[in-house]
Amino acid sequence: MNIKKRWYIKADYEEAIKMLAVTGLTFAFKRKPILDDVSFTLTDGQITGLVAPNGTGKTTLLRLLCGLLPVGQAHVLVNGIDQRQKHTQFLKQLFFLESSSNLYPDLTVQDHLLYVKRVWQSPVDIGETVASLGMQSYAKTRIKRLSLGMKQHALLAMYIVSNAQTMLIDEPLNGLDPSSIQQFEAMFRQLREEGKTLLVSSHQMDSVGRVCDQVFFLKNQKLDALPNDGQDMMAEYTTRFLTEAS
Ligand SMILES: Nc1ncnc2c1ncn2[C@@H]1O[C@H](COP(=O)(O)OP(=O)(O)O)[C@@H](O)[C@H]1O
Ligand SMILES: [Mg+2]
Repeated sequence: MNIKKRWYIKADYEEAIKMLAVTGLTFAFKRKPILDDVSFTLTDGQITGLVAPNGTGKTTLLRLLCGLLPVGQAHVLVNGIDQRQKHTQFLKQLFFLESSSNLYPDLTVQDHLLYVKRVWQSPVDIGETVASLGMQSYAKTRIKRLSLGMKQHALLAMYIVSNAQTMLIDEPLNGLDPSSIQQFEAMFRQLREEGKTLLVSSHQMDSVGRVCDQVFFLKNQKLDALPNDGQDMMAEYTTRFLTEAS
């Protein structure tokens, strides 16, 4: 085989593994089962919504994916890197910060962004990110002086600055005003255009319908994947969770 041919194969392979792949994920808290032998693949340049009623296991799934909870015998790979085998390298491929309550109260927004930029060795410009989210007036303010919506913006800015391939985002739209929701949706679309892989939990079904390429409904410890063909996502939610199952 000549070298050129080998290069092509390597390029194809790298293209193929640029994604999040999960096989055989089962998890329970004591007697409460959360996931039962769940497998899925998220390709790059795709936004997947994660939808289920409160207390079903959305946050637990996101924690499992980045190794904050033990995955047991399951395989979780990002860009072909196994969570259990090359943990540090694996973590650099993704970004997850559960909620704005995890931000440091005495540090400023900019401090958080500088920290993320350094640790994730990211080329993303902090000033541009701050401007694109309209955060200039509070970039140098400590987290403890910010409103919930401002903290949500700071959190999203951290995701953008991380430049991570896979972004696990837990209920980013909670508590946002309609114009901020639009702004966040635009950011998600931009990240998708850059080829990022987004898994976003949300209860905002109209938003899910506008931005997601597919939706994972978490029900009975399984993920029910639904491609977004423009259907009414609230009706899909109602069918699964509000109508009594026979
Ligand atoms: N650390 C924990 N220990 C025991 N049970 C937990 C823990 N974290 C979450 N749970 C339970 O697991 C279930 C799923 O929680 P969670 O993943 O936070 O749901 P969601 O994010 O969908 O609202 C809930 O019943 C919750 O009480
Ligand atoms: Mg949750």
